[in-house]
Amino acid sequence: MAKGQLQRQEQPWTILQNRTELDRNMKLTRSGKIALIILVVIIVAAVIGVIVYFVVYGKTPFYYHISFKLTNVEYDNKFGKPYSQEYIDLNERIVSLMNKTFQASKMRRQYVISHVAKVREDNGKTIVDVVLKFKSCYNNNAAIFRDRARNILLQKLIGDTGSLCIDSSSFQLSGCGRRTILSPGNKIAGGLDSAEGEWPWQASLQQNNIHRCGATLISNSWLLTAAHCFVNAKDPRQWSVTFGLLLSDSKLKQSVKNIIVHEKYRYPAHDYDIAVINLSKPVLYTTTIRKVCLPEANYNFPPNSDVVVTGWGSRKTDGTSPDVLQKGIMKIIDNVTCNKKEVYNGTITNGMLCAGFLEGRVDACQGDSGGPLVSSDSRGIWFLVGIVSWGDECALPNKPGVYTRVTYYRNWIASKTGL
Ligand code: ARG
Repeated sequence: MAKGQLQRQEQPWTILQNRTELDRNMKLTRSGKIALIILVVIIVAAVIGVIVYFVVYGKTPFYYHISFKLTNVEYDNKFGKPYSQEYIDLNERIVSLMNKTFQASKMRRQYVISHVAKVREDNGKTIVDVVLKFKSCYNNNAAIFRDRARNILLQKLIGDTGSLCIDSSSFQLSGCGRRTILSPGNKIAGGLDSAEGEWPWQASLQQNNIHRCGATLISNSWLLTAAHCFVNAKDPRQWSVTFGLLLSDSKLKQSVKNIIVHEKYRYPAHDYDIAVINLSKPVLYTTTIRKVCLPEANYNFPPNSDVVVTGWGSRKTDGTSPDVLQKGIMKIIDNVTCNKKEVYNGTITNGMLCAGFLEGRVDACQGDSGGPLVSSDSRGIWFLVGIVSWGDECALPNKPGVYTRVTYYRNWIASKTGL
């Protein structure tokens, strides 16, 4: 009995022990499963992270635009033709110099490729505009990267540049007013379709995602536009800025941090029709997004010189708006002519500039306001002449477009933006 009792006592203990083991085994399996799930979650998260990284950063290369003068290369007209042997040879020499420069530098892992975007003439010598492409950079590091690239280039350019003699004082990084597309292919009333990258400083100023005005990129964080765009809407939160050829396929939507309207602007008067927009974060320049050059305050654009106005404004008074950015090629009209009785009868002030044709035909129109009127100098660099401001209807005879004269407000622009 006693044995039997002992056996009976032993039995529950064994069962208990077996059960604990079973439990332990089960627990092990359970924690194994949890570990496995955690592992899977980590792997999935890592894969998603890598995909997101490549989608967001891997696909956003950034571009620097540099130019310099070659003192031992005589300018040849054939350089102007992108498929000429002369151009191909020069391009190859420059590209190989850039490749060598960056492949031997700290930026070798970011550097992708470069190409000659344009060859210009300066006193018989040759100036090349080169676009350098780099890989994925965070927006806020862009300035650091640019400085690094600048230093690497300057070091190289004053040192060994092989068979090319480079005037290091001519070196410029990210200049203004230049297209980086090789060769661009009139709706603004009487206008033509533009090509992608032809007017890389043109922006669309949108109120609650609807195009209201044009604007011009004058630095990576400032745009210039017209004061009258903001008459009943001064809150920066309702405004955004987009770039690109098509309104329906805008590139790079930017939010607006601040809008500074000229303090003397009084609607409905047309004087002081100027405003600057400060972006919430700077744009990264690309081949199709770049800044225009601002002229000096004392610069005079001569009457009758060729100018181009661009915008998504209507094609005629009360007409429809285009999706493709339009350009209108026209001429500057002097203020004396523009103030004639049959034209604007003395209403054109010193801060205004007229452009178009007295016979009408080509003009800016509703929706072009705030956008650029530009002119290119002999080197093919584009300067901002005016801001689309007002006009009596669109493209009527004796009623040319009236623009805010940028040189007149040059110091005001500097006082607000530091540019
Ligand atoms: N004020 C118009 C706008 O808000 C632009 C006027 C330009 N008119 C002209 N005929 N050039 O879009």
